[in-house]
Amino acid sequence: MPVESPQPAASPSTNPSSPPSRRTFIATTTAVGGVAVAGGLTAAAPFLGGTEADAAEAASPGSSRVSLTVNGERRTVTVDNRTSLLDLLREHIQLTGTKKGCDAGACGACTVLVDGHRVNSCLTLAVRLEGSEVTTIEGLADGDELHPLQQAFIDQDAFQCGYCTPGQIMSGVGCIKEGHTGSPEEIREWMSGNICRCGCYVKIVRAVEQTAGGK
Ligand code: FES
Ligand code: FES
Repeated sequence: MPVESPQPAASPSTNPSSPPSRRTFIATTTAVGGVAVAGGLTAAAPFLGGTEADAAEAASPGSSRVSLTVNGERRTVTVDNRTSLLDLLREHIQLTGTKKGCDAGACGACTVLVDGHRVNSCLTLAVRLEGSEVTTIEGLADGDELHPLQQAFIDQDAFQCGYCTPGQIMSGVGCIKEGHTGSPEEIREWMSGNICRCGCYVKIVRAVEQTAGGK
């Protein structure tokens, strides 16, 4: 007669085909819940000094904290990873001077300077700008004294509705800094990413010329 080795009796709670007992159900869910809570605390831990909203947003896997300097002021914000620099400026820190035209890189209305270079802020991911210096139209003037290109736009009457103007001016500042101002044609070429639906191009070019020439 074959001898069977003793087997522990399968309890209803360990048999996969049986429904879990109340005890094993509680043990399992407590363990899983503990891992989830621990994970949440780990993610939120660096933000314990911030607001609860910051911590909640930062704990979300799709969000990040980014610190950058905007017009000389250090800013730290928690944003969805897909947030553009344009939306960070307009929606998170209420700098609405930078305009949204196409939101697709085609009009130049959103032009700002990042580390001295002009960029379309609608195409620039905010989370990639950790530590960057951003200058917007709000940061150009020195107190009550306008930047020379802002003054030149007024002198040359280089706008009508004004919607494209912040982007035109920021692009013009970049264009002058880059030295692409040898002739009206060169200025037109290097400002060609900035569309003006009011058709002020002749006067915009004159304003850039005036500033580049120090007049
Ligand atoms: Fe950015 Fe048009 S809004 S290029
Ligand atoms: Fe109206 Fe340029 S001034 S779009």
